[in-house]
Amino acid sequence: MGLLDGKVAIVTGAGRGIGREEALLLASEGATVVVNDVGASVEGQGGDVHPAQEVVDLITSSGGRASVNGDDISSWSGAKSVVDQAIDTYGSLDILVNNAGILRDKMSFNMDESDWDDVIRVHLKGHFAPSHHAAVYWRSKSKAGEATSGRIINTSSEAGLYGNAGQANYSAAKAGIASMTWVLARELERYGVTVNAIAPRARTRMTENLFGQLAAKKEDSFDEWDPRNVAQLIGFLASDEAADVNGQVFVVFGGNIWAMGGFHPVGEVHRDHAWTPSELVAAKSELFKGVDSGIPKFSFF
Ligand SMILES: NC(=O)c1ccc[n+]([C@@H]2O[C@H](COP(=O)([O-])OP(=O)(O)OC[C@H]3O[C@@H](n4cnc5c(N)ncnc54)[C@H](O)[C@@H]3O)[C@@H](O)[C@H]2O)c1
Repeated sequence: MGLLDGKVAIVTGAGRGIGREEALLLASEGATVVVNDVGASVEGQGGDVHPAQEVVDLITSSGGRASVNGDDISSWSGAKSVVDQAIDTYGSLDILVNNAGILRDKMSFNMDESDWDDVIRVHLKGHFAPSHHAAVYWRSKSKAGEATSGRIINTSSEAGLYGNAGQANYSAAKAGIASMTWVLARELERYGVTVNAIAPRARTRMTENLFGQLAAKKEDSFDEWDPRNVAQLIGFLASDEAADVNGQVFVVFGGNIWAMGGFHPVGEVHRDHAWTPSELVAAKSELFKGVDSGIPKFSFF
């Protein structure tokens, strides 16, 4: 008996890295999985169906059910086609894991228009478009009086939660995904759908240069950087046991899971009429009392 027996899941970008481990974990818990991946390079170029096919073969050879989808989830029609594939092939959709992503790291002054547009499109539209089509399905099911329990799990990043130099495009998209998680959580709760997000740390081709030696595999001890660690949280969030977990953003790596809080006031001046610029000069020390910077500190190590 698995935690996800009878469920139908989509994992986007599931041919490699974290998405691959998420697809394998969901299948090992009993879910049928649509393994979506265009098979692009880290920068989002090219295409190759083989990584997704390999994941499907691994699932089916262990007795599970899975199929490949090679659509680009950052196009409206591609996102619809992956949602339709789950519903048309398996009669349902219960879990949507938005994971696909690319990187084009550059300082703002060196960034091209296409580096900005492509990263924003793949992450932000690539999260919203499948969520939209899944939400249409769950809402109409719920309105028809059928029991619904949808799950959306988004993939943000600490780069988005804290803002990372050299990643204006990526950090903006990932912050947008965290915020969109709260919007979707508010909108879809009434239809029995929960929406949460993770900000993972794992050794993949996307991070091998970033984390380097730190994330090197140590044969004799627990492998903190294994993307399989991240996938475990997805298994829980996708389950019926997490029906009361909604609008949460988790940092997850190794054996660590942090439930993160959103923005909250850290300094204040208040009165019952507006402040002029000159008055704010005088009130500055009161407004920023105990506040050292508006830029969040990376809680990295
Ligand atoms: N690895 C980390 O430590 C880390 C940290 C923070 C966030 N993330 C996020 O986790 C997610 C997975 O990253 P990863 O490290 O496994 O990277 P990865 O490069 O190994 O995997 C990403 C996958 O997404 C696929 N993809 C790209 N564009 C696509 C599209 N338009 N449609 C369908 N598939 C597409 C790629 O082909 C690739 O297989 C990403 O959203 C990434 O930003 C990763």
